[in-house]
Amino acid sequence: MSILSRLVLKKSVARIQQEGATSQLKRTLGKWNLLSLGIGCIIGAGIFVLTGTAAANHAGPAIVLSFVLAGLACAFAGLCYAEMASVLPVSGSAYTYAYATLGEIFAWVMGWLLILEYGLASSTVAVGWSGYIVSFLRDFGVFIAPEYIAAYDTAVFIPESARAFYEANGYSFNLDGEILNAAGNVVLGIFNLPAAIGIAMVTTLLTIGVSESAKVNNIIVAIKVSVIIAFIAIGVFYVDTANWSPFIPESEGPGKFGVDGILRAASIIFFAYIGFESISTAAAEAKNPQKDMPFGIIGALVVCTILYIMVSFVLTGVTNYTNLNVADPMAVAVDAIGLGWFSFIIKVGAITGLSSVMLVLVYGQTRIFYTMSRDGLLPQLFCKVHPKFHTPYINTIFVGIIVAFAAGMTPISVLGDLVSLGTLSAFTIVSVSVLYLRWKEPNLERPFRVPFAPVTPILGILCCGYLIAQMPLEIFIKLKWFFLAGLVVYAIYGYRKSRLGRELMPRSGDEEFVEEDHELRTD
Ligand code: ALA
Repeated sequence: MSILSRLVLKKSVARIQQEGATSQLKRTLGKWNLLSLGIGCIIGAGIFVLTGTAAANHAGPAIVLSFVLAGLACAFAGLCYAEMASVLPVSGSAYTYAYATLGEIFAWVMGWLLILEYGLASSTVAVGWSGYIVSFLRDFGVFIAPEYIAAYDTAVFIPESARAFYEANGYSFNLDGEILNAAGNVVLGIFNLPAAIGIAMVTTLLTIGVSESAKVNNIIVAIKVSVIIAFIAIGVFYVDTANWSPFIPESEGPGKFGVDGILRAASIIFFAYIGFESISTAAAEAKNPQKDMPFGIIGALVVCTILYIMVSFVLTGVTNYTNLNVADPMAVAVDAIGLGWFSFIIKVGAITGLSSVMLVLVYGQTRIFYTMSRDGLLPQLFCKVHPKFHTPYINTIFVGIIVAFAAGMTPISVLGDLVSLGTLSAFTIVSVSVLYLRWKEPNLERPFRVPFAPVTPILGILCCGYLIAQMPLEIFIKLKWFFLAGLVVYAIYGYRKSRLGRELMPRSGDEEFVEEDHELRTD
């Protein structure tokens, strides 16, 4: 047995389909539930937070074009996800697709990348949530020391409108707008406490088993979509077209405005679209996955793209893009036009909306670890189910601690880039999987087929590759250790313990595989 053939061992499509067919999960989700699930996970920190900084630092009003570009890359990848989800309607999403097409080592890499997509994305959303919570509490006079609202060793940004509040609490500001403590020293962040508390709350809910019910999700989606539509409908009357000029601010260096800035902003706000593929993780619970998965995925993408484009037009129209380098840009924009009451509603909508995104993302991460652990690629501890709550509690608590720590210690810009890079790589692998499966198993029944294949998946690969190329080099350097760690874990654990490997290519010394009952609760 060569190591190489062991590394690319594949789960057969039939086996995955059979695993899906014997799933104990109830099929309760219809196509509108799936659409709502997708929108629930998509609309979050991307539009409520990152749009502001991406416009202020990279694209100006042309952020609208960045949304079109990122939306296009997602549409190609979304069609590929739809085809894969219709062929393999099982949980595990892209990790499972890679296992079926490219082989175990790719599945492992995909699982590792999904830690960035789900785990770190929830940290990112938590930091966005923290920005809105701090601003909301401030409206009620609740003071949180500035050291505890920003990541370790980073500048604490206080919007001009809130300076008086901090001055009343013993702080002052220098000419650059930096906040100074009583001794006159610039205050730097120690830990973003609200972000970590947000994650701790959703982890507790997930541990005791309050997983997102479709009904609650529908209500939250209704709230956040209504807030966004209200922002567009009211804001449009306050647009000053002078703010759109110049539409593409002159370049100030690589990635700073000009056409290059639009592309850089596209790679940042790509984050705003992440989540549509989370619908595919619910494939095992869909009533009619073959038809409804593509509907949910494509429908959610279309709805969100339209909303995002309109929000960014209004946002950069009501206030100059230079004012948007804040944690709560939509609230700041409506404040700027004198609608304080509406800013309150936006904060409530954002806080509610971002909470559900955090919940779904942490949930997604735990279920990916769960699936990997059932496949033997991670220790069995990750699929150990609590006797009373019927949730993978050790897994959930582990994920919660790591994610909360990352949320408290890392600034949103770095987190956002890491997530986008992980997700873009995952999208690329899914597009490759579609091509591979079309070539290898041309006659497989495909209830949904990517139109214009192979052109569409190839365009997906090119667009995602292009956006990856826009990322700053330091992000790749940061990820180097993450990838090395992944390979070490696979080499010393997954490679030896893989259930598929031990079944299909048993080696002397392999212990007997012990089948354990790790069923999750089915309600
Ligand atoms: N797309 C999600 C968000 O913007 C992850 O928060």
